[in-house]
Amino acid sequence: MDRGSKPAVLVTGGAGYIGAHTAKALSERGYFPVVFDSLSSGFREAVRWGAFVHGDIRDARAVADALDEYGAKSVIHFAGLIEVGRSVVQPDLFWEINVAGTVSLLTAMRERGVERMVFSSSAAVYGQGGRGALETIPEGAAKAPASPYGDTKLACEWMIEAQCRAYGLSAVALRYFNAAGADPSGLIGEAHEPETHLIPLAIAAALGEAKPLTVFGDDFDTPDGTCLRDYIHVNDLAAAHVAALEVELPAGAFEAVNVGTGKGNSVREVVDAVGRAAGRPVPHSVGARRAGDPPSLVADASRAKELLGWEPVCSDLDRIVADALRWEAQPAYGSGRRATDRKAQPAS
Ligand code: UFG
Repeated sequence: MDRGSKPAVLVTGGAGYIGAHTAKALSERGYFPVVFDSLSSGFREAVRWGAFVHGDIRDARAVADALDEYGAKSVIHFAGLIEVGRSVVQPDLFWEINVAGTVSLLTAMRERGVERMVFSSSAAVYGQGGRGALETIPEGAAKAPASPYGDTKLACEWMIEAQCRAYGLSAVALRYFNAAGADPSGLIGEAHEPETHLIPLAIAAALGEAKPLTVFGDDFDTPDGTCLRDYIHVNDLAAAHVAALEVELPAGAFEAVNVGTGKGNSVREVVDAVGRAAGRPVPHSVGARRAGDPPSLVADASRAKELLGWEPVCSDLDRIVADALRWEAQPAYGSGRRATDRKAQPAS
């Protein structure tokens, strides 16, 4: 792709779900995304904007070479492992890739004088947090990760903050709530293998392409007994990254910002929304609670507006579900539920 005079941004993990949507948003905003990805869980087909470098973030030399080749002075860092359950059984791997990988990346960034970093953090840093069940969570809430995955995200935040102080990097850690939906173009979407997230599983169940959904518990202390989550459209999330890249910050500044809507939806509300969008009910049953699931995780999203001037514009639940359904019905990649499989087995 012809780069022209567009500023390059290194996007680690840019072949993954949120990374690919952010690469598209960067490109639309006039940047040149340079996707650096090992393809261990991302998809080459998701890299459609800018350049692609196949590499591992633990390889500081390869990262430095990519920064040199494109002259990138900013980095958006998504690369890492994300499955909460897997982090419980393989914590060493999560520390190795998420934490040691980020150390290695920071070393290369320091050597090459990178000035701005945006880091993919998570609401998992809060855990249950000791707050009242239905309170929204401000950034200053207690940090009590409930999994090694959350531990690694918090450790990375601390490390990045220290690196900002030490050499004048400025960074924004975005603490995502529940990323969902897909770009309406149909070019990119959610393709996790294995898929564990509620909305894709509910859609697959409605389309008859997966087993009925199990609702993990309906005896929580919430209005309908099922868990509340703050679902944020992946394109709103992508826009938050662009805003975090551009916000004026003094050298050495570190900011951690929630990215959510401030509004919770219950598992039952999601199941109903998927049923409406699919035109048929989601086959489901209620099962036991999933270990570690807090009853409610809803952002206090005021800081994102104040600092980044960012607000969600497409995170209405029905819109999220409609965009996710369009993708799930005809995914452009992802071996779990390929378009070809669907042709062989149309939903009825
Ligand atoms: N759920 C079900 N059945 C399923 C799958 C999920 O009832 O088959 C429920 C969960 O119990 C939860 C809600 O749907 O109440 C959402 O679950 P997801 O697995 O879609 O998402 P989580 O809230 O568990 O996880 C999200 C991010 C993680 C992040 C975490 C922070 O996907 O990366 O928030 O706590 F770590």
